[in-house]
Amino acid sequence: MRIYIEKDYDAMSRRAATVIAGEILHNPACVLGLATGSTPEGAYKYLVDWHKQGLLSFKDVLSVNLDEYVGLAPSHDQSYRYFMQSNLFDHVDIVPENTRVPDGLTKAPAAFCADYDAYIRSLGYVDMQLLGIGRNGHIGFNEPGDCFVKETHVVDLAESTIDANARFFASRDDVPKQAISMGMGAIMGAKKILLAASGEEKADAILGAVTGTISPRCPGSILQLHPNVVVIVDEAAGSKLRAAGVSVCG
Ligand code: F6R
Repeated sequence: MRIYIEKDYDAMSRRAATVIAGEILHNPACVLGLATGSTPEGAYKYLVDWHKQGLLSFKDVLSVNLDEYVGLAPSHDQSYRYFMQSNLFDHVDIVPENTRVPDGLTKAPAAFCADYDAYIRSLGYVDMQLLGIGRNGHIGFNEPGDCFVKETHVVDLAESTIDANARFFASRDDVPKQAISMGMGAIMGAKKILLAASGEEKADAILGAVTGTISPRCPGSILQLHPNVVVIVDEAAGSKLRAAGVSVCG
């Protein structure tokens, strides 16, 4: 793992955006695995800016998103499809048909999940997978449990995830209780992985992902087994790495 600790959220976002932009410039028809949530918002803003300045084109890029809430329509302002449209897709030249977000309204979840994995396999897997991390160590919505789940699947969200995401909804009761999430097979199949995090509340999860016991109890710890992971965090999220003396690139 190459680890970068940046001074704050903006610097973390800018560095994450440079890694994604570098991937697109190197391989204009790359497959990006994308995440939603507070973590990537800043990076998406940089990518949109650079696109508007004529520095970056998404016209040949394909994207697959990690997850979507079960029961939310794409038009729901807290759906992950809506997030992707408003934070990235609507502002760049990506071809709409080349973007995939799991369908939270599918009536046949098992078949949908199998097709999602088959699509990712048909692309030769993702070139660069962007990940945030939950306070409990989840990546995608692979919550802590007894085993790593390989396939895309329907997951019951952990209570701590529902608590954390309640900030986006009118009330905690409005937070969906389930999501469709890529499994560890698709995530670990990515050629490169970029894990980003900011804020003190992510410090334990980042420490666990980078140096903890590799265990489904901390899903992010599986990343230690991937040969090409870049971790970009701000000082607060990286504080326990510093305290543990983990060597960092910058
Ligand atoms: C989102 C996703 C989640 C988030 C994680 C952190 O697509 O897969 O794993 O990355 O819950 O969320 P934020 O960035 O809002 O703290």
